[in-house]
Amino acid sequence: MKKLFCLLTAALMLLCAMPGLSEETPAHVLVVYFSRAGENYSVGVIDEGNTAKMGTIIADQLNADAFELVPAVPYPEDYDSCLDVATEEKRTGARPAYVGEIENFAQYDTVFIGYPIWWGGIPNIVCTFMETYDFTGKTVVPFNTHEGSGQAGSQSVIAELMTGATILQGLAVRGSRAQSDPDGTASDVAAWLHSIGLTD
Ligand SMILES: Cc1cc2nc3c(=O)[nH]c(=O)nc-3n(C[C@H](O)[C@H](O)[C@H](O)COP(=O)(O)O)c2cc1C
Repeated sequence: MKKLFCLLTAALMLLCAMPGLSEETPAHVLVVYFSRAGENYSVGVIDEGNTAKMGTIIADQLNADAFELVPAVPYPEDYDSCLDVATEEKRTGARPAYVGEIENFAQYDTVFIGYPIWWGGIPNIVCTFMETYDFTGKTVVPFNTHEGSGQAGSQSVIAELMTGATILQGLAVRGSRAQSDPDGTASDVAAWLHSIGLTD
């Protein structure tokens, strides 16, 4: 009996030491997103942005790490004022700074990038991120929220800026749905992750 117990303990220790089975194994999937709380189109004043809600769902379903691009200078809470700031950023080609940086970026082989559509494209702060890191050899997976524009051609901008990466088919969800229907959004995300081969 004692011998059997020792054997079982040894087998368990061996299993835990194997790659992929230890709790110490670092995540290889990272979900990066930009999202803005405050007043927004069709949802009123919100505590957590629509894209943030989607990002959390993706990270939960894949047990991935997450990093939010928090602007160093916050965007206005007021919707119209934010439209003005975004217009000016587009006009000048600004690259707004975000707070902090991603530790151990090299450990991630799959990077999700999430953003709302702003004026028919990707918010400039997300371009700051895309131009900061080297994505060569990584798999990049875009996702976004919007209120009618869908992906708005953003996948081609991502392909331009994240050179050397394999870009998978992204998912666009209405911001109002991500905000008010977490179960429906989680189903959309699950079906999409399966369709692009990231879950069984
Ligand atoms: C500055 C700005 C510009 C926007 N431009 C568009 C647009 O061109 N097309 C669209 O469908 N939605 C547009 N929207 C709506 C957002 O894409 C939508 O509300 C999104 O879900 C916001 O995500 P967030 O809460 O994560 O920031 C815009 C919103 C803002 C604040």
